[in-house]
Amino acid sequence: MSGTSQQRTAQLLSRQAVACRELGSPLYGDLLAHAAADLLAGGPTADVLAGHLDYRPGSALALRLLGGAHALALSGMAPELAAWYPSTGGTVDPEPASPQAWAALRQTLADHGEAVRSWLDRPPQTNEVGRAAALLGGLMHIAAEADLPIRLVEIGASAGLNLRADRFQVPGDAGRYGDPGSPVVLTSGWQGDPPPSVSIEVVERTGGDVAPIDPLSGHGRLTLTAYVWPDQTDRLARLRGALAIAARVPADLRAESASATLARTELEPGTWTVVWHSIVRQYLDEQQRAELAEGVAALGEAATDSARFAYIYLEQSRAGGCLVPLTTWPVGHRRVLGSAPAHGLPVHWRPQN
Ligand SMILES: C[S@@+](CC[C@H](N)C(=O)[O-])C[C@H]1O[C@@H](n2cnc3c(N)ncnc32)[C@H](O)[C@@H]1O
Repeated sequence: MSGTSQQRTAQLLSRQAVACRELGSPLYGDLLAHAAADLLAGGPTADVLAGHLDYRPGSALALRLLGGAHALALSGMAPELAAWYPSTGGTVDPEPASPQAWAALRQTLADHGEAVRSWLDRPPQTNEVGRAAALLGGLMHIAAEADLPIRLVEIGASAGLNLRADRFQVPGDAGRYGDPGSPVVLTSGWQGDPPPSVSIEVVERTGGDVAPIDPLSGHGRLTLTAYVWPDQTDRLARLRGALAIAARVPADLRAESASATLARTELEPGTWTVVWHSIVRQYLDEQQRAELAEGVAALGEAATDSARFAYIYLEQSRAGGCLVPLTTWPVGHRRVLGSAPAHGLPVHWRPQN
């Protein structure tokens, strides 16, 4: 292991520590700062990461490492670490810089190095349930335009949890939606001008992903949970609620590319077909983006007053943050409904004329 690549990787861990802190995980901020120092000191972090130091900066090596350790805590194999993770009922380390949580993670890396290493070869993959707040508002605008049943199609759907968005609830003053008994509560999900107060009926749920995760399998559930940061208990509660809904509300999720999902999408009379994606565009190359735009345009051209088509997404904008544009056909009316952070909550709805 060369000193230079070790130093570069330690810098990556330190940068990720800062990002985690900024994104609301002080625990991961502390743990990654310790891990960076441990890597340079030749501790268990160095042993686990040996052979993986050439990963490119965008590979999120730090989150692969922590995802593997979190999976061990979640599955009962690292009780000493679970004791310091709120996701597993543990205590938040009360001391500055979380020394006890770090000691437990360091021991876990020393004891279960091979198990953690098996998580280094795959990119972290989440399914962010909070992003459904944007989709739901869009669906309400769509239903207000024409009160027809909705066939929901999701591109890059991960585990397809947001294909069940209509079963979630958004409480609050800026409009409210859903069954107050739903286990997915999108708290403060909507701000600004609320979406129209209409009911929506989803009659079909289908989607695709190049690496779909089965939300009904133990391994799929563990994978999704392991990549949520253990002190982000709101995100975990949303995920666990959505997994419970997925167990009773089926959705057709296929292993396929974005263009393949679009290619098999056809409009049906008497319905809205709604294509949706969130935080997927950045993973598509230029050709895939062009195919996405062509596929959407072709569906728009095929739309009629009866067989309607809508396209809504939540994607990063050049100006920062994410926009929520909606286009509806047969007219091809495009408007930006609002904006949201990358994790989806809250959506700031703009006034619509
Ligand atoms: C950041 S995740 C977002 C997942 C989900 N849309 C959400 O908001 O939670 C990006 C997803 O895009 C998928 N993906 C990447 N390239 C793809 C492609 N060419 N076609 C379909 N899915 C793709 C990944 O497997 C991953 O599940």
